[in-house]
Formats: sequence, structure tokens, C-alpha cells
Amino acid sequence: MIFMDICVGSSCHLTGSHEIVELIQNEVTKNHLEDDVVMSGCFCLGKCNRAGVSVRIGEEIYTGITRDNFREFWDKTVMTAIKNSEM
Ligand code: FES
Repeated sequence: MIFMDICVGSSCHLTGSHEIVELIQNEVTKNHLEDDVVMSGCFCLGKCNRAGVSVRIGEEIYTGITRDNFREFWDKTVMTAIKNSEM
């Protein structure tokens, strides 16, 4: 199981945190990962940039997540984190 915090601070809010939350929820539902992903919103992670949203998985913070690079973020980062958490 992994814990994901999606930043909903003002900068990330402006660059689309709501959209990223929706995209994550869709993937979780589609892939039946409800028992593998715990998602919550959080305030500023101190990594604001204007490129996209910041997401923390465990202790790692990933920045600049957008609709355009979400697929890669999900496939490479999130799915790897889920697989590693099962070991
Ligand atoms: S508002 Fe998201 S990292 Fe600062």
C-alpha cells in the first residue's frame, strides 16, 4: 500500500491539482487499486513551480505533474511504488 499526498496549495491548485486528483482516482478505480493506494490532499509541499502539481509518495516528492505527463508519472512512478510496497 502506498500513501499519496496531492498538493492542493495555491500554486498547485492553479496548475491543476483537481484534475490530477481526478486522473489518479480514475486509475485507481480502473485498475482496482482501492486497497493499494491511500490518497489525500495536503497543503504546500514547499516545491512549488509553475509547471504542474506536486505529489508526495511516501517520503519522495514529485513535481511538475500535469495532464500531459500524467500517464508517464502513473506508469513509471506510481505503479513502481505500488509494486515495491508489495515486496
Ligand atoms: S503549492 Fe504545491 S508545492 Fe507549493
